[in-house]
Amino acid sequence: MKPFDVFPVFDINIVKGEGCYVYDDKGNKYLDLYGGHAVICVGHTHPYYVEKVTDQLNKIAFYSNSIVNKLQTELADKLAEQCGYPDYDLFLVNSGAEANENAIKLASFHNGRKKLLSFSKAFHGRTSATVTVTDIPAYSAPVNETDHVVFAPWEDIEFVKKELATKEYAAVLIEGIQGVGGIKVPSNAFMQELEKVCADTNTMLILDEIQSGYGRSGKFFAHQYMGIKPDLITVAKGIGNGFPMSAVLINPKFKAVHGQLGTTFGGNHLACAAAIAVLDIMKKEKLVDNAAKVGNYLMAELRKFPQIKDVRGYGLMIGLEFEEPIKEIRSKLLFEHHIFTGVTGTHVIRLLPPLVLTIEQADYFLAELKKVIA
Ligand SMILES: Cc1ncc(COP(=O)(O)O)c(C=O)c1O
Repeated sequence: MKPFDVFPVFDINIVKGEGCYVYDDKGNKYLDLYGGHAVICVGHTHPYYVEKVTDQLNKIAFYSNSIVNKLQTELADKLAEQCGYPDYDLFLVNSGAEANENAIKLASFHNGRKKLLSFSKAFHGRTSATVTVTDIPAYSAPVNETDHVVFAPWEDIEFVKKELATKEYAAVLIEGIQGVGGIKVPSNAFMQELEKVCADTNTMLILDEIQSGYGRSGKFFAHQYMGIKPDLITVAKGIGNGFPMSAVLINPKFKAVHGQLGTTFGGNHLACAAAIAVLDIMKKEKLVDNAAKVGNYLMAELRKFPQIKDVRGYGLMIGLEFEEPIKEIRSKLLFEHHIFTGVTGTHVIRLLPPLVLTIEQADYFLAELKKVIA
């Protein structure tokens, strides 16, 4: 048996990680500005994280949601303290798509409607409901075809108003910052109007903060730059620092009904231990502030490169758009300079490093990038 070949891979075997660095089986050290796709938030193998997860593993790794799990309450309390939504409820699941899938169901249960509004270039996942609100036709199988979803042009508030006026929409989904779509930050004015039209039409506003959330933007959530309060917020990636986990944050107006939602693995003991350790470290090391500080520094320095057409983002979620395709730049950075970066489309490099990135590491990247694009 062999792995199903759905991922294009680099021929590098990563066997170890520490902080912002990863190491291959030949002993090469790489600066990780990709964070395994925005997942590593407190750094690789943080000693406190390893200790907490190991301790939990030695106690009990898993029991089902049919018993009291005090770790879930501890996690909810700590998240409430840091994320700015102390009155919201928390539903724990396992992946980004699963969080969005559950948010969509909650919205639809709540107002009894079927339609969903999403935006051009959106990415919300690959499961059956989330792929319908993802604007990448190649990811949809014939079984995913639906007439329940409409894609609005980016930031076209008049289009949105006209659609939502029909009062047929269960929810609008939008990313805090579009990731796959090219690191596109929605404007504050648009988001505020969107919030208002959703409220006026009883359409639930779902903020997908799976990539942009959990401190990455330099605030706990990217939408907190925009002065809005969504009905449902989804998180994943950094929540477990690589331990598969995700969550939906739920406005208290939603009524919990036994049986409507469920999960076998979601919120298990080991996942909660990982997520609690992440929040403890984020608080102690002030990682949200660090993301803002190092991210602002990086963006300001990157804007000085004449070769870069546009620098976009917030905090440590940064897109660098070039005039020419970036394949060669990225490949040189990786194979010659041992720096991992992400990509979106053909012209944008995506930086999604661990939130522990230092100014010195940012400077190292800037110097190496200069050598590649000079
Ligand atoms: C904004 C956004 N939503 C949803 C997802 C899906 O998450 P997962 O791959 O964990 O299902 C991703 C993953 O990259 C994402 O970036």
